[in-house]
Amino acid sequence: MSAAPEIRIAGDEAALAHVGAEVFADLVQASLAQGSPCRVALCGGRTPRALYARLAEAYGRRVPWDALELYLGDERYVPPDHPESNYRMVRATLLEPLGFPEERFVRFETERGAPETVAERYEQVLRRRFGLAAGCWPRFDLVLLGMGPDGHTASLFPAGAAMREQERVAVAEWVERLGQHRLTLTLPVFNAAARVVFIVSGAAKAPAVRAVLQERPGAGDLPAARVRPHAGRLLWLLDRAAAGLLERP
Ligand code: 6PG
Repeated sequence: MSAAPEIRIAGDEAALAHVGAEVFADLVQASLAQGSPCRVALCGGRTPRALYARLAEAYGRRVPWDALELYLGDERYVPPDHPESNYRMVRATLLEPLGFPEERFVRFETERGAPETVAERYEQVLRRRFGLAAGCWPRFDLVLLGMGPDGHTASLFPAGAAMREQERVAVAEWVERLGQHRLTLTLPVFNAAARVVFIVSGAAKAPAVRAVLQERPGAGDLPAARVRPHAGRLLWLLDRAAAGLLERP
């Protein structure tokens, strides 16, 4: 039985980054109390930029970065130095300012083949690093996720084929609406995690936030609603605008 979501609401996007950094540090410490390394899947997009900058600026000592392995939960199929690359964003806001070593950051190597090949290689690397037997899922110690106004998360989009994937750890998918291939970890991976943290800001997402957290009709089909770790903690960090349509309990 998956745990109910824990919801925390910050005043605005800047406060959300501060709350997110504190939660990140606390969850990493909790993970390391049970063993090392702590394996973290980072999310992309715009929202986490402020969180990563806050972590790099103020948590260089508070978080034992040497005990962490960082991964990406999803990627756009663009070159690593492309403005839309999640890797480029994470490198600029977190890895470089921290001096985090590239050998402990695992990315989708989009420059090394077709989308499906890139996804297959990422899966092989994860299986090796997690020491996975066939048929087992990698259990991330912490997964960060964002959400779009349509309820997508990572690169799992409503009615997309990736949402139905129950065998693969990572897949590639053409997203017509974006005119782009995306690469993503799959739902079983997110639901195998020990801790999942959504970080969502802005009024544009308030309808999807209410649908997911207060289980509006049809919400069950939203990818973000399908992320309910089987044996893990689920936290939703929101700013007041994204939480604006939640009805008080
Ligand atoms: C991506 C993310 C995606 C993102 C949401 C929210 O690669 O873009 O994985 O799922 O988290 O689209 O994006 P914003 O934070 O930019 O609103």
